[in-house]
Amino acid sequence: MTGGRVVAEKATATTVLERALLASSMNSGKRLRPQLLEAAARAIGGQSTDRKARASAEAIELIHTYSLIHDDLPAMDDDDLRRGHPTLHVAFDEATAILVGDGLQAKAFELIANDDQLSAEQRIELVQCLAKAAGFDGMVGGQGLDIEATQKELSLDELKKIHALKTGALITAALVMGGIVGEASASQVATLRVVGDKIGLAFQIIDDVIDVRSDSTTLGKTAGKDAAAGKTTYVALMGLEAAESAALELYQESLSLIAEWDENTEVLRELLAKMVKRDR
Ligand code: IPE
Ligand code: IPE
Ligand code: MG
Ligand code: MG
Ligand code: MG
Repeated sequence: MTGGRVVAEKATATTVLERALLASSMNSGKRLRPQLLEAAARAIGGQSTDRKARASAEAIELIHTYSLIHDDLPAMDDDDLRRGHPTLHVAFDEATAILVGDGLQAKAFELIANDDQLSAEQRIELVQCLAKAAGFDGMVGGQGLDIEATQKELSLDELKKIHALKTGALITAALVMGGIVGEASASQVATLRVVGDKIGLAFQIIDDVIDVRSDSTTLGKTAGKDAAAGKTTYVALMGLEAAESAALELYQESLSLIAEWDENTEVLRELLAKMVKRDR
């Protein structure tokens, strides 16, 4: 459960902020990023990494959840449905939603810093990787470009950059962080980074596709939102079928990069497939 561990540290939710944190922790998403992190750790270091990956996996999901809470705010995408429930600023208020996001972000780094399953060097590397992917050079930078581009025409290269930053960066971080936990070699980390860049872009292309093709009940968020909000998407630039094919091609390329790796990649391979073959 997203944030469950954060809430579990509190005996009861007494303040508005604590109640909002509890509410957001009840609405779990697909948890793809923590699963990716654990699968990458296992692909590199085998099953014994499962316990070591736990705190980092929770941390990256907290960053992602914060990014969604802020993405839905009226000043950003102004959405009222998320993970099948009213968005946090609708269920509570904007100030509370902003603060829950802020608190989740700080908590993510606290979880990694306090993780006694890992060496001090590993914790520092994990914090560096997650901070870079979450910040100006990653998710936040991409969200900034996305907002700036709303209601404007974009080239495919410009859109690719936005997708790679706002969504790809955290997905790449999930894989690289798994590599750090599993004590990957420099060349394995480099491969995980390329796999992440490909599947991360593919994941956001499919997010654009299902915004058009799926419905709000299945998605748990408002369908048809991108066109209504004046967002340039892969579907707007190349059409549904070509967008989906582009994502599937990236998925195949990501798979072939780990084809030589041993049997411990099974969970990772299944997850990569799930990221592009989905309707929610
Ligand atoms: C949605 O991410 C936002 C994007 C970055 C595309 P997910 O589709 O992983 O959302 P949840 O976590 O399952 O709700
Ligand atoms: C959001 O992209 C990416 C984030 C960094 C949160 P979208 O705005 O397309 O995500 P959804 O469709 O609202 O989940
Ligand atoms: Mg958005
Ligand atoms: Mg949005
Ligand atoms: Mg979307």
